[in-house]
Amino acid sequence: MDRIVISGGHTLRGEVRISGAKNAALPILASTLLGRGECVITNVPGVKDVLTMSQLLVLLGATITTEGDRVAIRADQLRSTAAPYEMVKTMRASVLVLGPLVARWGEATVSLPGGCAIGTRPVDLHLNGLVKLGAEVSVEHGYIRAKAQRLRGARIHLDIPTVTGTENLLMAACLADGTTVIENAAKEPEVLDLAHFLVKRGAKIAGAGTDLITVEGVSVLRGADHEVIPDRIEAGTYLVAGAITGGDVYVNACRPGHLEAVIVKLRGTGADVIEGKESIRLKAARRPRAVDVRTFAHPGFPTDMQAQMVALLSLAEGTSVVVETVFESRFIHIPELQRMGAEVRIDGNHAVVSGVAKLTGAPVMASDLRASAGLILAGLAAEGETEVSRVYHLDRGYERIEDKLRGLGAVIRRVKGSTGGAGAGQTP
Ligand code: UD1
Repeated sequence: MDRIVISGGHTLRGEVRISGAKNAALPILASTLLGRGECVITNVPGVKDVLTMSQLLVLLGATITTEGDRVAIRADQLRSTAAPYEMVKTMRASVLVLGPLVARWGEATVSLPGGCAIGTRPVDLHLNGLVKLGAEVSVEHGYIRAKAQRLRGARIHLDIPTVTGTENLLMAACLADGTTVIENAAKEPEVLDLAHFLVKRGAKIAGAGTDLITVEGVSVLRGADHEVIPDRIEAGTYLVAGAITGGDVYVNACRPGHLEAVIVKLRGTGADVIEGKESIRLKAARRPRAVDVRTFAHPGFPTDMQAQMVALLSLAEGTSVVVETVFESRFIHIPELQRMGAEVRIDGNHAVVSGVAKLTGAPVMASDLRASAGLILAGLAAEGETEVSRVYHLDRGYERIEDKLRGLGAVIRRVKGSTGGAGAGQTP
């Protein structure tokens, strides 16, 4: 397992370019199963999860050509409608093929994702929605089996605005007979980006990006080109990298409007944040101030930025309360941060962060994608050397993170090697 070694205490300055959003690219790639014709997707990030999704689509029978950030993909014929355990266990988002498979190919067998480091994470809402759309759904031997001659439109109310659940049902509804209404839908920008792509392919969708999505089913989708939106979580991570090192970073090729909740909190810590059309500049405060943060579905503060924010607040003047409302056990990075000197008390889904004047470098272990990012950020600010093991989690979602951080002045290197446990992570 590779490790990342950081020599902390260097102020980050300069410009960093943001890659395409992993969480938009994954459903968009999965949705190519819904129709015929070539789809050319650009601004696709070169991260492990995208590779896993591509491998899954090839296994199902799609043909894919990748050149840099451009992926040309065709799913005119399939050879299988089964997503095996080996794939789904490395990436929960593999479940995104369920809706397209059953809608276009009449059947799907998809391994049931298990628990993961950040909580139980069921997919019951995906399955209930498909049943509403007329699919026969069963779970046998660890696999979801769904079947339908043709799905039919329905009114679906989601108890929780699940992101991948909304995406799965949105994709399935595109080919259903009649009208589908998804109530309490997820409003994340990635859902909207998927809808934009589907509309280019001939789908009839209204209301994406709001909590009420209406889909008029059509019989076929065609090929289309699409550029994936920038990754708001990657952008937020580099903003925090600037803030935590007392730096001045210019985050380029991003959408400031997708990051409002993060920007508000960063300003709350005293940072000067200047929004451009497609860029954000952050000039850090001398020492961050404490702020309270509560994660929430979009447009609330993203749970995928919580670990990074806790790292920043661990160095703030004063005490911050961070409440995690989206996932049940998403504080696993905190014991690792405590090893670096952070003073954090966890009480249920509340983390009470008493800011300290300095962190000290230590060997730490990443437990999920965003937790890894939080530990890297803490390492950038800590005194001495921090070694983050199990960085395969990081590689799932951050494109060339060491290069990008080095470009900003960080002293960071990857060590190829064997420290850290084996096994794959199942996290956002
Ligand atoms: C997506 C993102 C992930 C992000 C998360 C929340 C992708 C590939 N991943 O994950 O990065 O952290 O949104 O913004 O886009 N739930 C149920 N039943 C279900 C589905 C979800 O109870 O059927 C619960 C989950 O356990 C969780 C909450 O709903 O507590 C939100 O999860 P959800 O929005 O589904 O997360 P993902 O789509 O898996």
